[in-house]
Order: sequence, then structure tokens, then C-alpha cells
Amino acid sequence: MNYIGSKSKLSHWIKDEIKNIVGNDLSDKVFCDIFAGTGIIGRTFKSEVKRVISNDLEYYSFVLNRNYIGNHKDIRDKESYIEELNSLPLIDNGFIYQNYCKGSGSSRQYFSDNNGKKIDTIRRKINELYYHKKIDDDLYYFLLGSLLESADKVANTASVYGAFLKHIKKSASKDLILKSANFSENSNSHQVFNEDSNQLIKKIEGDILYLDPPYNQRQYGSNYHILNSISKYEPFTPKGITGLPDYNRSNYCKKRVVKIEFEKLIDNANFKYIFLSYNNEGLMSECEIKNIIKKYGRYSLVKKEYQRFKSDKTDARNHKADKTYEYLHILQK
Ligand SMILES: C[S@@+](CC[C@H](N)C(=O)[O-])C[C@H]1O[C@@H](n2cnc3c(N)ncnc32)[C@H](O)[C@@H]1O
Repeated sequence: MNYIGSKSKLSHWIKDEIKNIVGNDLSDKVFCDIFAGTGIIGRTFKSEVKRVISNDLEYYSFVLNRNYIGNHKDIRDKESYIEELNSLPLIDNGFIYQNYCKGSGSSRQYFSDNNGKKIDTIRRKINELYYHKKIDDDLYYFLLGSLLESADKVANTASVYGAFLKHIKKSASKDLILKSANFSENSNSHQVFNEDSNQLIKKIEGDILYLDPPYNQRQYGSNYHILNSISKYEPFTPKGITGLPDYNRSNYCKKRVVKIEFEKLIDNANFKYIFLSYNNEGLMSECEIKNIIKKYGRYSLVKKEYQRFKSDKTDARNHKADKTYEYLHILQK
């Protein structure tokens, strides 16, 4: 998934830097990824640590992480469910087709008509299987995570769901094929939450806390609202041209309060090692972050030059340079 702030290209660097501080053997460590997004960082550590605690404010992210992190034992017959879901006759009275595809008369075009119908068909069947107890939680989140990943590949957007494109783009014209969102297996169990980081931090403890909050004003709840709608699948009246639901507004996206929110998180954290990913164009400056962190213990910083996130070509043209710096602020509390 092309996700704002994704660490997929930085995960090895982050892991190496964390090991430089904490040591190579992490097998007795509890690792928390409290702004988990796509889950890539938790996934990178899943096989090496005693337990991963994964969390995000957004429900679609919970679904992805409940699958990629929470699932750790083989699920029998999961491929036969994928096959069954791929071969169902399509329905045309579902929420996504009715509200986010042109053919229904909705005036929005987040998916081709057929793909919108297929999302509804699969989503409804997953609910039915779960409701009738034919599938358990592990399989439910595996199938739902697979649907999110597969639907995202054929979305008719420039990359985020803040707007749709007028014409169906090439990748969106391809038929949605449900593909397995494969998770890695191991014998340890993990925890996955869907809470505000600043609330959750008061209830957990561990060894390594990895922080990757939003850097700027872009709210994830509006930029990825369609993924929430597919995940929750509860009817609401979509608002305006883009069809937004009511969405979460994170304090980490607000210039006015972000520093206070961040300091509360650090203060309440019951973890020995804290690592913060942030870039040089974020709402908090390098110096402001340093001044907060160093009140709580030993501070250090590493940085890496990095390719900027591009949501579309216009976005790329608007930016002067396409290189930016990614920082990893380190606290030993
Ligand atoms: C930069 S992204 C994380 C990216 C992730 N590390 C990855 O590689 O996919 C920031 C994440 O923080 C989440 N978020 C924002 N405010 C939050 C809050 N108060 N509590 C928990 N999660 C929050 C967003 O939903 C988003 O997924």
C-alpha cells in the first residue's frame, strides 16, 4: 500500500539503528509500534521479539495489523475462502457501489463499477460467514485485510482517498482479484489495539517503543476514509463531493497542540528505549523535539536522506526538491 509516511523503504535502516542501541538479541523484548499504519515496522520485528504491541487510531489500520501482527499461526483452508470469495456472483445494492461508483448514479468514482460491486459482494459475504460463526476472528481479519489490500490496488485515486479521478486510470480498470494478505507465522502471541496513542500509553509497558506519528496536517481518517468504510461497513450518509464520513482528527496533525501531546506521550511511556521517526519538514522542528526528549533521559539522533512521498504528479511538481531527511530521535529513559 502506498501510504503517507510509510516506512517500508526505511524498515531495515530503522531496525539496524534500534539494534545498535538495544543490542542484537531482542528475543526477551516487548516492542510497541503505537502509530502502526500499514504495520510494516511491527512486521519487521515480529519474528525477533518476545511480543509486538501494535496500535493505530484508524480502524482500517487495526484490521491490517490484526491480520499481519495478531495472526501468527497457520489458518487452515484460508486459500479456499479466498477462492470462494473471488467467484461469487456480483451484487449491485451494496454501500460502496451505491455511494462511490459512477454507475449507481452517485457521481463519485473511487472504483470502476465492477470493482465496487465486487468489494460489496466480498465484504457482505465475509460478514455473513462471521455472523454465522463459519469463520473465527483470525480468519475474519485475514479475509478483511486481504480485501483492503486488494481493493487499494484498484482504487481510482492519485494515491490517497481525499479525491477520486475523473477518468478511470489504467490500474483502476483492472478487475479486482482478492489476493491473500499473508502474515508471518511464529510461536509468540502479540497484541493489537485501535486506540488513541496517548490513552493507550497509560495502560501498557514494555522495552522498545517506536513512534511514527503523522508529521503534518494531513489527517489519515480523511485521506483513507474509503478503507475505513470498507472495514466498518456500517451505513452512513457520505458528505460532499468526496463522500467523507465523520472522521478522527488526530492531535498530532495540529500545530497548536502537537508538542504538548508529544510530551505527554513521552512522559507517560513506561518503556526504556524510545525511538521517534520524524522528518525535517514536520510540525515539530528537530530542536523542539530534542528539547522535549532530553528532559526524560539520554538523547541521541541519527538521520538519513530519503525520497519524499509523492501522492501524484502535481504534488511532485509543486515540491522544489524530492529529497528529504528522515530523523530517528532516540531516548534512553
Ligand atoms: C506516519 S503514519 C505511520 C506509518 C507506519 N509506520 C507505516 O510504515 O505504515 C502515522 C499513523 O499514525 C496514526 N495516528 C495518528 N494519530 C494517532 C493517535 N493519536 N493515536 C494512534 N495513532 C494515530 C495514523 O492513523 C497513521 O496510521
